[in-house]
Amino acid sequence: MSGERKGRKDKTVYRCRECGAISPKWAGQCGDCGAWNALEEERPVAEAPSRFRSTGFAGTSEICELASVELADEIRTATGFSELDRVLGGGLVQGSVILIGGDPGIGKSTLLLQTLATLQAQQTGLYITGEESPQQISLRASRLGIKAPELRLLAETQVERILEAAARERPAIMVIDSIQTLYTGELQSAPGSVSQVRESAAQLVHFAKRTGTSLFLVGHVTKEGALAGPRVLEHMVDTVLYFEGDGDSRFRLIRAVKNRFGAVNEIGVFAMTEQGLKEVANPSSIFVSRHDEPVAGSVVMVTREGSRPLLVEVQALVSESHASNPRRVAVGLDQNRLAMLLAVMQRHCGVAMYDQDVFINVVGGVRISETAADLALILAILSSLRDRPLPSDLVVFGEIGLAGELRPVQNGQERLREAAHHGFKRAIIPKANLHRQSAGVLQVDAVKDIRAAVDLI
Ligand code: TYD
Ligand code: MG
Repeated sequence: MSGERKGRKDKTVYRCRECGAISPKWAGQCGDCGAWNALEEERPVAEAPSRFRSTGFAGTSEICELASVELADEIRTATGFSELDRVLGGGLVQGSVILIGGDPGIGKSTLLLQTLATLQAQQTGLYITGEESPQQISLRASRLGIKAPELRLLAETQVERILEAAARERPAIMVIDSIQTLYTGELQSAPGSVSQVRESAAQLVHFAKRTGTSLFLVGHVTKEGALAGPRVLEHMVDTVLYFEGDGDSRFRLIRAVKNRFGAVNEIGVFAMTEQGLKEVANPSSIFVSRHDEPVAGSVVMVTREGSRPLLVEVQALVSESHASNPRRVAVGLDQNRLAMLLAVMQRHCGVAMYDQDVFINVVGGVRISETAADLALILAILSSLRDRPLPSDLVVFGEIGLAGELRPVQNGQERLREAAHHGFKRAIIPKANLHRQSAGVLQVDAVKDIRAAVDLI
């Protein structure tokens, strides 16, 4: 009997890479979240693994009343990059755990190396490298001119040994580059597998909370743009930052997609240089390509990312399709939204696109998630279809509903002010965004639906 129970305990289970659900048998699809090909073998060890330990805040288990909780201000440190401080919600919080994701080569290691180097004077840092050797890191530092002779480095991938070293060293800030290379001796699966990533992260988070160490975890991003490893990783940490930007542009955006200590969707802008990352203090017009003459298919809009407005250029290319299924490609914008807007155009403006390929691009590798881009998208498509450029001093924004109506967007006034500040002269905005002060330097056309907007141009 006891032998049977023991046998059962050692049995292999399969864990879903996406949602972390456990299944006794392998299957092509996860029974919980429906993800395909996401189950991974996991062989648990006999003793209770540390997943039964608390992974979050290391507190006592006494019940208390909300009002009686003493409020202590979180202690924040300026990282030396005000753009990074901005996405962190006003500086690095002591004891917080931050996950930084992004494509390979986008600058994660460089940013963290620079941050540790700047902070070195006031805070002790420890850089754990699982991917590169100390020589490679030193080489990069000297190539980029990052001066940090006393920076502490450790090339190690076993979590237990890392924690041992950290306990000795007591760093104020620790960087793990990257979480996917770590493994814990408690599990038998390979580094990078779901269970290893989650378990290693759990131990590190526990350490950070217990000792008040601020922890940066570097995470890899898969082809689809999600962090490799289970979503659970995102739940375990306080802040998730994503590096964005296309390979050709020298600008890099860091976006907060989750932040327990600040606003989400806040972005920080950096430029890649020979001396590493430099912050861009006034980024609002770097995502507009300046054409000498107005070109068809290009529209400038004012988007609002986090707490500041940003001028971005939306480009469209419409060309006759010879395939049975015309192509709809949106880079930097939601593909489904594009399909929806094309349907709205057909219905409310009588412009059919079933025989046209439609390509949309947002300049500079920016990703726009807000619906205020709708109007810009439609006008760019029309402009390209008719091969008629729009005035180069025009900005637009507005959300479009299924009935073709133009809905107001938040902070309309601020967006207009930003456009005026950058020398734009005309604006097309939703009627409900019109305000008495709107006029000023800009000539504002407030329209109530997409028809009216199209008639205007
Ligand atoms: P790296 O930080 O290693 O990217 P990641 O850790 O995200 O994979 O950066 C890749 C390379 O680009 C590295 O060799 C240094 C170079 N680089 C610059 O020359 N200037 C910069 O501003 C940055 C960020 C990187
Ligand atoms: Mg790296």
